Amino acid sequence: MINKCLFPVAGYGTRFLPATKAMPKEILPIVNKPLVQYGVEEASAAGIREFGFVTGRGKRAIEDHFDISYELEHQIAGTGKEEQLNSINELINNHTFAFTRQNEMKGLGHAILTGRNLIGDNAFAVVLADDFCVTEEGDDGVLGQMVQLYRQFRCSIVAIEEVPRDEAHKYGVIAGEPMKDGLYRITDMVEKPAADKAPSNLAIIGRYILTPDIFDILENTPPGKGGEIQITDALLEQARKGCVLAYQFRGRRFDCGSIDGFVEATNYVYQHVYRK
Ligand code: UTP
Repeated sequence: MINKCLFPVAGYGTRFLPATKAMPKEILPIVNKPLVQYGVEEASAAGIREFGFVTGRGKRAIEDHFDISYELEHQIAGTGKEEQLNSINELINNHTFAFTRQNEMKGLGHAILTGRNLIGDNAFAVVLADDFCVTEEGDDGVLGQMVQLYRQFRCSIVAIEEVPRDEAHKYGVIAGEPMKDGLYRITDMVEKPAADKAPSNLAIIGRYILTPDIFDILENTPPGKGGEIQITDALLEQARKGCVLAYQFRGRRFDCGSIDGFVEATNYVYQHVYRK
């Protein structure tokens, strides 16, 4: 029912310069797998088979990663190294990948609107690959949990987590009426508020399920905080017209858009996945 997932990957990743001068942030590896592949695997585990990427200049490595590399495969054919490509080849063989470009960095809302032609008129997921999420063994991934909620409620859903007040300025922060454990109906949202202006300590992280009416709203959303078209402004409009839910997911998120979060994620995967 949620068949498509959009990855806005046009950002410059300036916090990782000079690493991201010629390489997309999303290709930075957590141990031996690029960030963006973890995001695609999470979406695939949620039953999603079609992927759209909103890219920009200098992001070709993402397209190449989700395509077959004949020369490489030929070189390592018949050696033990072949199986190191199993995870990516499984994705390539069973999913479709489409790409469009955001010509100007006008914000996440604008990037999502740019992906409209890849999505069409159905509810869809959005993953910000630099938020790397893990869940307990045997539990669904974060997007899988959200897809199940969408089946029940049929409206836009954002993933949230508690953050310290002094970090609220990095996020979109919600206010909401509790519906049941960990689920809120959004009544207000503020993009990157100062600590004393934050309506709660519940911050939006990079997992969304959006109903397609968000596109018309985004077309009429003026630039907001930082002069960018903000998805939070469009979601607040959607919440006022109908319903948007905020879901406190089971699991753990690493902010791999920051050096600290990236190093924590690397240590986590090395210990809990790679060395196991
Ligand atoms: P960020 O602001 O966290 O990412 O945007 P960034 O710009 O790549 O990184 P820094 O801050 O310069 O280090 C959140 C997500 O939204 C996408 C980014 O690619 C990232 O995944 N984005 C943001 C776009 O695709 N287009 C935009 O215009 C803005």
